Amino acid sequence: MDIKALVSRMTLEEKASLLSGDDFWHTKAVERLGVPRAMVSDGPHGLRKQDETADHLGINDSIKAVCFPTACATAASFDTDMIREMGEAIGDSCQHEKLSVVLGPAVNIKRSPLCGRNFEYFSEDPYLAGRMATEIIRGIQSRNAGTSIKHFAMNSQEHRRMSSSSDADERTIREIYFPAFEMAVKEARPWTVMCSYNKINGVYASENPWLLTDVLRKEWGFDGCVMSDWGAVSDRVAGVAAGLDLEMPASGGVNDRKIVEAVRAGKLDEKLVDQACERVLGFVYRYLENAKPETPWDREAQHAQAARIAAECMVLLKNEGDILPLDKVDDIAFIGEFAKKPRFQGGGSSHINSFRITGALEAAEGLKVTYAPGYSVAKDDAPAEMIAEAVAAAKKAKVAVVFAGLPDSYESEGYDRSHMRMPDCQNRVIEAVAEANPNTVVVLHNGAPVEMPWIGKVKAVLEAYLAGQAVGEAAVRVLFGDANPCGKLPETFPLKLEDNPSWLYYGGEGDVAEYREGVFVGYRYYDKKKMDVLFPFGFGLSYTTFEYSGLKLSADRIKDTDSLTVTATVKNTGSRAGKTVVQLYVGDVESTVLRPVRELKGFVKADLQPGESKEVSFTLDKRSFAYWNREIHDWHVETGAFTVEVGASSRDLPLKAEVTVESTVELPRHYTQDSIFMDVMADPKAAPVMKEFMKKTMEIFGHEETEQDRKEAAKEAISEDMTLAMMRYMPLRGAMSFGGGADSSKTMEELLKKLNGEA
Ligand code: BGC
Repeated sequence: MDIKALVSRMTLEEKASLLSGDDFWHTKAVERLGVPRAMVSDGPHGLRKQDETADHLGINDSIKAVCFPTACATAASFDTDMIREMGEAIGDSCQHEKLSVVLGPAVNIKRSPLCGRNFEYFSEDPYLAGRMATEIIRGIQSRNAGTSIKHFAMNSQEHRRMSSSSDADERTIREIYFPAFEMAVKEARPWTVMCSYNKINGVYASENPWLLTDVLRKEWGFDGCVMSDWGAVSDRVAGVAAGLDLEMPASGGVNDRKIVEAVRAGKLDEKLVDQACERVLGFVYRYLENAKPETPWDREAQHAQAARIAAECMVLLKNEGDILPLDKVDDIAFIGEFAKKPRFQGGGSSHINSFRITGALEAAEGLKVTYAPGYSVAKDDAPAEMIAEAVAAAKKAKVAVVFAGLPDSYESEGYDRSHMRMPDCQNRVIEAVAEANPNTVVVLHNGAPVEMPWIGKVKAVLEAYLAGQAVGEAAVRVLFGDANPCGKLPETFPLKLEDNPSWLYYGGEGDVAEYREGVFVGYRYYDKKKMDVLFPFGFGLSYTTFEYSGLKLSADRIKDTDSLTVTATVKNTGSRAGKTVVQLYVGDVESTVLRPVRELKGFVKADLQPGESKEVSFTLDKRSFAYWNREIHDWHVETGAFTVEVGASSRDLPLKAEVTVESTVELPRHYTQDSIFMDVMADPKAAPVMKEFMKKTMEIFGHEETEQDRKEAAKEAISEDMTLAMMRYMPLRGAMSFGGGADSSKTMEELLKKLNGEA
């Protein structure tokens, strides 16, 4: 379709009409020209296609579909191939259901464990979130269905989500909140981007020209369509000018009319309307021209795939005395309502009407498993009789497995959690069962970290996250050793909520949420503070063991324009086949800006037979070493040494090497009379100029140090070090005033010119 030509045949009213939805889930048609409607649907871990009554809060039913593991779980797999394959399956179902775009993935950063939507987001780490988002987009779009990466940007809380302003400095935005979007936009080219509800530094994302045009299109090269989150539009005309192409859902024609009026009044360039139209029709026709409604949607096969994926996502957090895997011949007690009715997805717009749900109890059929509910989710209570029943079951069994976690009401889109605790009743059941049977295992179903007051009393903990409709099958496979756990935490579990870096500021004051912890989000903070955590980022056990060795860098010195190849060997030293995630972190040894100790810059999931070794390799480039420089508004690498650490988690990095990276970019110098000696002397270009100047000044004023001066200084115990230390903070103007009061302004002017490289 020649979209430009099509748009040129439209009236202004027709064009404006295309810039908002027809209803909840459709774009508009233009019947006169044969332009059909197209349907979009949530997202992100399966389809929520609503046929009848529509809403964006997951209230009304949608068609029966397959609920894959949610993003909090898939991120824990660190498996890019697997999430791409999950995307392919979702793409197939889109084709079958005639959906042009699936509304996801959601890649907002987990700034706090409290965010109600953490289950829908990938990680506290932007690199991991970016890699997972890139691959799921590739998977879905390989089937010619589009994606809508969301919510762009800085939507890390639900509290006041439609009015609050997420305020952060440029560096924090670039280093933490943008990279997942940036990587996915550049590498996977999503058809659409969904802007967030919130403001960013005071400007709504839906009308933010810096966000939607300067950064997204001009810097990152995005050429698709930007749609609003559902109801995120405040000033529609400002939105068109800023680069918001499609308002969703329908605006009842009100905003379409405003667009027409603004054009007629000369307040909005019609070319911008044309452009927005072209972008909307761009994805509509991209879908239509490649539509394959005959694509089969094999839900059974996808259920089996969902089970396989879920097993790859589960994170084994503790396994004292190798109590897991369980032996199939033993008597096992499954305790907790979640064993029967698992919690496997979160509430809100991502809520999927699963065609089948398998709990662990059902999946364990044929094994010697007994069951006691332990607690009631509906009542959020564990009456004495229920606990007694659970205790009795635990006593009779060799091992008691308590299925616990967060009920639906504890975390959902639309509101944040107010604490990080599990329901008291569930904690009580775990304590009682652990007392009755020392061989107690806990399986957790939750979308974000929880406090674990009982951690010292149970033998094992398996974090299942919200692992989709086939969670029970996956849990049973992992518990009984048919699958070897290989997930790693995509976020830190702090010991307590108050340890989290955003804790003081999270939620904000009124409508302003200041991201005051800056770049120190998640492990970037805990590592810098050398704090103990419950479980660190990247952590996860296995039923086998791995050994890391042979770290090699392709060079020990590179330019920031070069790339560096890093290789390391990982060996399965146990007796079971298993997978692990080899993680690579980079740290700046010395920096003039405040930087995290280490940042994830690469990971590889390795599958190893017992005794097998593999060499894994990573490629690092400028971005792996750079920070965002506020002066040049760009990524910058400071010349110097960097650590490259490789290992099993952010706190278990047995391999370490150093590489020197040389900057090829000269930062602008603008010294003034208020610049201090230390800064000038640290600059290899300015230091020689300064030295020369000092020498001359000393000569002019006869202040060259004599033997007598030295003796005096020694007497007063002023060491050379102290003099130097005191000098460090002196402004250049100090050199003049100490110079005896001679007319110095000209000298200063000349010095500054030389220091700034202008003379
Ligand atoms: C959510 C989006 C979702 C949309 C449509 C909004 O409330 O924030 O993530 O895609 O509704 O359901």
